[in-house]
Amino acid sequence: MNIAIITGASSGMGREFAVQIASQLCRTDEIWLLSRNKAAMEELAGTMRMRTRVIPIDLADERELKRFREVLSIAAPKITLLASCAGVGSHGLFAAQTEDDIQAMLRLNVTAQTMLVRMCLPYMRRGSKILLFSSGAAFVPQPGFSVYAASKAYAYSFGRAIGAELRGRGIHVTTVCPGPVDTPFLAHAYGNREEMSGLKRLTTLDAPRVVAKAVNDCKRHRAVSACGLPIRALYLATQSVQNIAQYFFACSETLSEERKETER
Ligand SMILES: NC(=O)c1ccc[n+]([C@@H]2O[C@H](COP(=O)([O-])OP(=O)(O)OC[C@H]3O[C@@H](n4cnc5c(N)ncnc54)[C@H](OP(=O)(O)O)[C@@H]3O)[C@@H](O)[C@H]2O)c1
Repeated sequence: MNIAIITGASSGMGREFAVQIASQLCRTDEIWLLSRNKAAMEELAGTMRMRTRVIPIDLADERELKRFREVLSIAAPKITLLASCAGVGSHGLFAAQTEDDIQAMLRLNVTAQTMLVRMCLPYMRRGSKILLFSSGAAFVPQPGFSVYAASKAYAYSFGRAIGAELRGRGIHVTTVCPGPVDTPFLAHAYGNREEMSGLKRLTTLDAPRVVAKAVNDCKRHRAVSACGLPIRALYLATQSVQNIAQYFFACSETLSEERKETER
């Protein structure tokens, strides 16, 4: 059985993914929707034309993740698509954040996302795709959003790296890096939207647009999906600086190796 897995399917961009890809997955028999909110996923499943399986799960809970591994081993599906959308963020100074909030971000955005990909890989074949949610927050450190931005920098680095590793197996990874998107995430993260900077409020996009771009980038096997002019500009600027830094780092390493060689 060919399946697509979508995490974070109860809300925001995960939900939007399910809606948009349902009509486009011609070689997929069933979509598995994952999140904690069973009622919201059942409501979504009721509106979809495809066969769906609703799997209520707290991905931040290690025992529930292990149970999901068993679900996979019993079903032994072929995973055509994994859209890893679940994520949480809390805004505020690091010293003022609760340990619970910090743990929640690290468990879900870092550990659960990594382990879920690892669990799904054995069921993927040539042509399978992974859409991995990072954020534009990955590109620069963000005081006031430190742990969230760092967790998304991890997701970005992880997504790019496994994308390169898996290319030879024909498995394509698109790391999705949106700027602010109008979903319930913003209310959870900021409490009050007035806390958002004017620039963030001004550049907030709607979920259907961001998801449509990510689906398109995934089809074209693009490594990164960055939607909207401001976030693309930030992405390109930070990438250029990184590429220059990498170039000089590689040059200086080569020069010092050459120097050592002549001294020997
Ligand atoms: N919105 C933005 O401005 C923005 C910008 C850049 C990146 N992102 C990233 O985009 C992704 C999607 O976010 P969104 O904007 O669509 O936010 P959202 O509407 O708040 O959706 C988050 C999803 O994650 C699920 N989730 C949260 N904790 C979970 C847990 N412990 N176990 C399982 N599922 C859990 C939620 O479902 P339940 O609560 O039902 O479990 C929900 O379906 C996230 O990774 C986020 O970091 C968002």
